Amino acid sequence: MVPVEETSDQEPQARIDVPGAPDVTPGDPPAAPAAPVVDQTVEPTIGPTGRPLPDFPVPAPLAAHGPARIIAMCNQKGGVGKTTTTINLGAALAEYGRKVLMVDFDPQGALSVGLGVRAHELDVTIYNLLVERGHDVREVIQPTSVEGVDIIPANIDLSAAEVQLVGEVAREQILARVLRPVEDDYDVILVDCQPSLGLLTVNALTAAHGVVIPLECEFFAMRGVALLVETIEKITDRLNPRLQIDGILATMYDGRTLHSKEVVKSVVDHFGDQVFHTVISRTVKFPDATLAAEPITTYAATHSGADAYRQLARELIARGGAA
Ligand SMILES: Nc1ncnc2c1ncn2[C@@H]1O[C@H](COP(=O)(O)OP(=O)(O)OP(=O)(O)O)[C@@H](O)[C@H]1O
Ligand SMILES: [Mg+2]
Repeated sequence: MVPVEETSDQEPQARIDVPGAPDVTPGDPPAAPAAPVVDQTVEPTIGPTGRPLPDFPVPAPLAAHGPARIIAMCNQKGGVGKTTTTINLGAALAEYGRKVLMVDFDPQGALSVGLGVRAHELDVTIYNLLVERGHDVREVIQPTSVEGVDIIPANIDLSAAEVQLVGEVAREQILARVLRPVEDDYDVILVDCQPSLGLLTVNALTAAHGVVIPLECEFFAMRGVALLVETIEKITDRLNPRLQIDGILATMYDGRTLHSKEVVKSVVDHFGDQVFHTVISRTVKFPDATLAAEPITTYAATHSGADAYRQLARELIARGGAA
């Protein structure tokens, strides 16, 4: 049995109900997630999460771009695949013709490095946009080698922001304000959070429409998730009512071990349909691609790991988590 943390003796805190058919006014970014359709006429394939695996169709090309749906990649646990998922989900969405902006929101700058941006040499990064007035976000956005993917880089300067922003007015809404001028230029904005629930992550959740929570398939995967969900609920209540959990993503899955299967089962038992059908297997191709400063979708385009992130992109779109 995999340990599951509960914050109280109430119902598990994990479910944030998603309205069935929300009213969408023109110009609104798409709302998240609706249950995917399973074809009843053929014997369904059981996917790695133990549920019938729906078919996620290749999305139709977009006639026009924007406004973006902002997604925070969030888990205060370190090393669970947030940055890897940001890079590769973003690259896969771009392959489907989506315009993607990635925001490096971690002072370690792993997202910037992973996309070949020499962020330590930059004078102006996300840090300056957050703490100084008078910068134009478009001057900080950089193109990447991946077509359709731009990035707002970060470097170690960002580590000072948390302290500097504490005294600011509306300190939780600063990232939302930074991104506003370019929201119409992109279809998806992915914010790669640092492993903490501090003010930067609160800013990401306040700017976001949705959260994707990567969980590593290991014994303590669920540790801290209750606290993360509680934080998301507080932000939904107090700062950002549109915020939804887009999905929980099992990463570093090893289908050969009973252990990985048990972890995924316990995550599905707990979170139900909030868990993506797509799981990401453990493979050395991911760190290899990071070293090559490329997404796996170009570094090893035909590898199953690349296909997994393409499927995740299709699943996210099918759920309404991206245009
Ligand atoms: N599916 C995978 N298979 C094998 N290795 C992986 C996989 N996903 C990520 N990794 C590797 O695991 C390490 C941690 O991944 P990543 O940096 O994406 O996690 P993170 O959650 O962003 O970490 P941090 O909390 O430090 O920001 C990296 O070395 C990465 O290359
Ligand atoms: Mg990271």
